[in-house]
Amino acid sequence: MARPRTIYRCSECGADAPKWMGWCTACEASGTLMEEFVGHAGPAGAVLAPPSVPRPITEAVGDAVAPVPTGDAELDRVLGGGLVPGSVTVVGGEPGTGKSTLLLQALASVAAGGQACLYVTAEESARQVALRAERLGVCAPALWLVAETSLPHIVGHVDALAPAVVVVDSIQTVHDPELGSGPGSVGQVRGCAQRLVAEAKSRGVSVVMVGHVTKEGGLAGPRVLEHLVDTVLSFEGDRHHALRMLRAAKHRFGSTHELGLFEMGEAGLVGVPDPSALFLADRLPGVPGSVVAPVLDGQRPLLVEVQALVVPSAVPAPRRTAQGVDGGRLAQVLAVLERHAGLDVGRAEVHVAVAGGVRVQEPGVDLAVALAVASAATGRPVPADLVACGDVGLGGELRQVQRTERRLAEAARLGFARAVVPRSAPDAPAGLRLDRAASIAEAIHHQAFAPQAVAS
Ligand code: TYD
Ligand code: MG
Repeated sequence: MARPRTIYRCSECGADAPKWMGWCTACEASGTLMEEFVGHAGPAGAVLAPPSVPRPITEAVGDAVAPVPTGDAELDRVLGGGLVPGSVTVVGGEPGTGKSTLLLQALASVAAGGQACLYVTAEESARQVALRAERLGVCAPALWLVAETSLPHIVGHVDALAPAVVVVDSIQTVHDPELGSGPGSVGQVRGCAQRLVAEAKSRGVSVVMVGHVTKEGGLAGPRVLEHLVDTVLSFEGDRHHALRMLRAAKHRFGSTHELGLFEMGEAGLVGVPDPSALFLADRLPGVPGSVVAPVLDGQRPLLVEVQALVVPSAVPAPRRTAQGVDGGRLAQVLAVLERHAGLDVGRAEVHVAVAGGVRVQEPGVDLAVALAVASAATGRPVPADLVACGDVGLGGELRQVQRTERRLAEAARLGFARAVVPRSAPDAPAGLRLDRAASIAEAIHHQAFAPQAVAS
C-alpha cells in the first residue's frame, strides 16, 4: 500500500498537482485545487486479477447482458430498455428538478414486480422519503428504505438485502471514513463511486446514484466520475414549467440519442408519451407570429410552436429576447431577413419564444423563427395547418436538416396539411403538401407576407 501523502486535486477536472497553486494547470480553472490525502487505502479493485483471455469478437457478441425494464416507459426509452444488471448510472441535474422523485418512482416500479430494491437516502430523512412515497402511492413491500451516509454501512445493507437495484441519493453526501479526505471532497466522491462500481460489478446489482451538477451544468466533483460509471443521465427542466427532460450524456449499453419526457405535477412525475400534442394543446391558430416547427431532440421528433412578437421601438438599440432558442441564432436570422428578404426590423423590438418551456438547440428551427418574425412584423398569420422545417444559411438559402422525413411524418401524424421546406427536401408523407423554397425570400413570398419596414 502506498505511503499516505498530500496532493492537490482540481475540483473541476480531477487533475493532480504536487503542490498548491492558484489555478489548475490541466483545465486552467482558478482556485479549484483542494488538499487531499492519498494512500490510506488502495483503490477498489486493486487486487491483481487473473489475466483475460482473448477471443474472436464473434464469440464475445453473445456476452451482452439484457437490460431489465424499470417499468417507467420514459426512463426505459432513454436507457434503451432498462437497467443492465451490474451497471452503474449517475443521474445529474440541478436541485429541485425531481431526481429523487424520478428514482423513487422508478425503484418502486421495479419493486412492484417483486424484486427487492434499496433506496439509500443520504440527504433527506427516511421519514421524508417514506411520506413522499405514500403520497405518490408507490409503497411496494419489496422497496426498502434506509437513511445512511456511511459507505461501509451502505455496502453492509446491500450485503444483507441482496437487492436488484440500489439508489444512492446522492453520491456527494455519502462518505467513506477509510478515505483520508473530508466529506464532500473530490477524493471522497471519487473513492465512494469507485467502491460502488466495484460492488455493482462483483454482485451484479444495478447501482443508480444521484449526482449534483455545478452552475455550469457539469457533474459536481471530479469529472472522472463520468469515466467511472457506465451511464450518465441528465435530468433538466426549469422550475416554472412542469416539463422535465431526461437524456443520456453517456451510455455504454446503447444510444445517447433518446429523449425521455415527463411532467411534474401533484402526482409526481408522469411520462409524456405524445409530446407534440402536449406542446400544441394551447396554441391559438390564426395569430400572427406563430409558426409550428417539427424539431428533433435526439431521435425524437417534436412539434413545437415558435412565437414571435415584433413591436415598434423608439430607442436606438431595441430589445431582442430569445427564449428556448439561441440568442445568437436569432440575431443571425434577423440579419438574413434584413439583407436577403428586405424585412427590416432594425427599429423594432423582437421577442422570440418556444412555447411550453422547450429548448431547441438545432438549426431545423431557423426557418420557423424567420417565418414567425416575418408573420409578426407584417401582422399576417401563417395558415394554422402549416409547419416550417429547414436551416437558414447566411446567404438566405434554405438548407435541409437531418431526418427531414421523420419530422414531416410527425407533422402529418398530428394533422398538419402543408410544410414549407428547402428545395432538396424528400417527398412528402401522405396527407402533407410541400411548399418547396430555395431561399428565405421565396419562402416568405410563398406565404404572401409583404416585406416592409417596421419602424416607429
Ligand atoms: P425532488 O425529487 O426532491 O428534486 P431533486 O431530488 O432533483 O432535488 O423534487 C423537487 C421538486 O419537485 C419539489 O420542489 C417539489 C416538486 N414536486 C412536485 O411538484 N410534485 C411531486 O409530487 C413531488 C414529489 C415533487
Ligand atoms: Mg433530491
